[in-house]
Amino acid sequence: MLRTVLCVIFLLRALPASANESRGHISVVLLGATGDLAKKYLWQGLFQLYRDEVSNGHSFTFHGAALTAPEPGQKMMFEVLKNLACPPDEHPTRCAVLKDQFLKLSQYYQLRTAENYTVLNREIEKLLEQEELEEAGRIFYFSVPPFAYAEIAGHVNSSCRPRPGAWLRVVLEKPFGHDLESAQQLAAELRNFFKEEEMYRVDHYLGKQAVAHILPFRDQNRQFLDPIWNRHHVERVEIVLKETVDAKGRASFYEQYGVIRDVLQNHLTEVMMYLAMELPANISSTEDVLQHKLQTFKSLQGLEKTSAVIGQYQAYTSQVQEELQKAQNYFSMTPTFAGVLIHMDSLRWEGVPFILTSGKALDERVGYIRVLFKNRAYCTQSEALRDAERSQCKAKQIIFYIGHGELNSPAVLVSRNLFRPVMPEGSWREVTDRPQLHLFGQPLSDYYVYSPVKERDAYAMLISSIYHARKDFFITTENLLASWEFWTPLLDSISHQAPRLYPGGRENQHLLDFEMLGQELSFTLAEPAEFLHTSKQTPDDYQTIQTKFRNSSLVSAWPEELVSQLASDLEAVAARAVARSGKFHLAVSGGSSPVVLFQRLAKHHYGFPWKRTHLWLVDERCVPLTDPESNFCSLHDHLLKHVRVPYFNLHPMPVRLNRRLCVEEDQGPELYAEEIAALVTNASFDLVLLGVGADGHTASLFPRSSSGLGGDQAVVLTESPIKPHQRMSLSLPFINKARQVFILILGRGKHEIITLLSRVGNEPKKWPISGVRPSSGQLVWYMDYEALLG
Ligand code: BG6
Repeated sequence: MLRTVLCVIFLLRALPASANESRGHISVVLLGATGDLAKKYLWQGLFQLYRDEVSNGHSFTFHGAALTAPEPGQKMMFEVLKNLACPPDEHPTRCAVLKDQFLKLSQYYQLRTAENYTVLNREIEKLLEQEELEEAGRIFYFSVPPFAYAEIAGHVNSSCRPRPGAWLRVVLEKPFGHDLESAQQLAAELRNFFKEEEMYRVDHYLGKQAVAHILPFRDQNRQFLDPIWNRHHVERVEIVLKETVDAKGRASFYEQYGVIRDVLQNHLTEVMMYLAMELPANISSTEDVLQHKLQTFKSLQGLEKTSAVIGQYQAYTSQVQEELQKAQNYFSMTPTFAGVLIHMDSLRWEGVPFILTSGKALDERVGYIRVLFKNRAYCTQSEALRDAERSQCKAKQIIFYIGHGELNSPAVLVSRNLFRPVMPEGSWREVTDRPQLHLFGQPLSDYYVYSPVKERDAYAMLISSIYHARKDFFITTENLLASWEFWTPLLDSISHQAPRLYPGGRENQHLLDFEMLGQELSFTLAEPAEFLHTSKQTPDDYQTIQTKFRNSSLVSAWPEELVSQLASDLEAVAARAVARSGKFHLAVSGGSSPVVLFQRLAKHHYGFPWKRTHLWLVDERCVPLTDPESNFCSLHDHLLKHVRVPYFNLHPMPVRLNRRLCVEEDQGPELYAEEIAALVTNASFDLVLLGVGADGHTASLFPRSSSGLGGDQAVVLTESPIKPHQRMSLSLPFINKARQVFILILGRGKHEIITLLSRVGNEPKKWPISGVRPSSGQLVWYMDYEALLG
């Protein structure tokens, strides 16, 4: 391999260099060379660097490294390199030649032990010696998880430093800590090995063209912006990254971080700094930019719990359960959506809301920064007569469009009624196509729109900046710690807050809309949030007691929490049944207790497999189904009206046959039993949901009557002591055939019977509920505190 490399370097040195004869050799070591980021962006970025710089006097070698053994590692790496491509404007022959050279200059190394690092260093040294190359420097790109940083940093520092006079640049990928303390710790560890100027912490958003152009835009348009870039003119600033993807496949990372740490603390904060900082006289001075940024961090008002709204897409918890092998009763509190309201104590920005928003599983993928200006004009002229473009009545905004969305490319948009911006000629061009496309409430024709002449990937731009030692696109230690200092209190304060659940995608509708009320943010649709907040589990607030009652599982909590738990458990049972058999057979009771459960299911369980659910009745009153006393009627009003259960899957009890109610000769119970036998495997429901009466009755099986307590009949007619007397009910033996039985008991009125039941044995004739003992299924009691404790 070394021979090939030498050959290529020899040939390249024969090429005319536009700069000085030889500016020295650069060794690039990519750690994590076969990982996702490397595959997707880094190798492509390095190839671009090579194409751009090969004729500028430097020679290069590229050393891909990973833990994998040399042979398979080399293979995997070359699979990636094979697919490297040039942009369309590169001549194919030049591209092919350069790619061939690049491949020859790239070699795989296994870097596992200290010895491996020594070998790598020896190889680099050997190459330099044999070719009599001056060493310009070494780049070590750490595309590895941060827990590996310290060890690798130690090896690089002790074995792989370049020769005296040459530089070392170490590139680090986020996450840089988890909170202020861990970030400080990581920073201190790294400081043991590297000097500040040697470290390049990547925030790839700073390499996005629209973001990288914020400071130049502000600089080049000072004349227009100076008077208006302040609280007197700016209404608000929105910094947004919406994604349609979810966190599937990344749960082990995401569950520890969540959206605020993943995106807001870094990408969106950095963008906010570019917008809000005082503009240095010289924006190319890295030090000046940093100092101005740090000043802005100081001006940020502290965040309160109420400064944020958080959400979590509904499927997230089950993805976490699956990927992290958590139990079914594990509920994640990690937000996958957040909106945060930030204010600054500065003369310029006092009172101007900066809204940062990001989320997974949203309705669209788009990133933008929108500065919306106040509009003081009132126009008396009708809309039709207004000057189409420059009307002072139209919204005034400046948008840095990061990408995706309707425009699907980076852009800078300035409302035509503001000013025509100065843009760098050659690198940005005005775009006038699709004038009718609407963005932020206006047709594109209302804006001056500029796009980059050449679209460039963020990583390619950052790699080029590393090569050119342009540190202004990277995060210094001070900058990083300032950001964590700002975010950590909020993260701590919401760590036990239940995020609002959202179904994901377009179905989110207005569920995640939020509004500003003074210094606070809240979801616009407040009611479901309240309901969910009390019902979602938090280690501190939500204390379900999980223990035993009558030798079966008992779940106890305050009513809303209890119902929420029951609904989640029910959904889990449903999901398992559907996975097992494609269907879910659920039999529900009537009465008042299940009503809250129905309401909860209807409002919050968007992922419930309703289309696969068959709904059966445990019991029914002998009244027409439209009668408010009818259990089916209640089920209809509180659940069926709101969810989409196929008509064919509804199985009301046939209490009304031949225009009469519950007449024995009409054989309603037999008909129902036949229907069950025809549709339900082994006539065993997946889940039966029961309640308990204060007298110990369950379903429509009443004390002091033996109807339905034994025998082969699945369905029976019974007599209630309370009106309407006549009932139809599943029998006790039939209930006990179910795979699972949940019993829901709410309210102080049930405390007495519960106390009694806790002491008595199996006496269904006295207390029919005591006979509920599924023969091979599972029984769970769901009791609120009042029922349990009185
Ligand atoms: C990464 C986050 O930093 O940025 C991801 O870890 C997120 O969760 C990504 O999806 C967004 O970047 P881009 O370039 O796709 O907008």
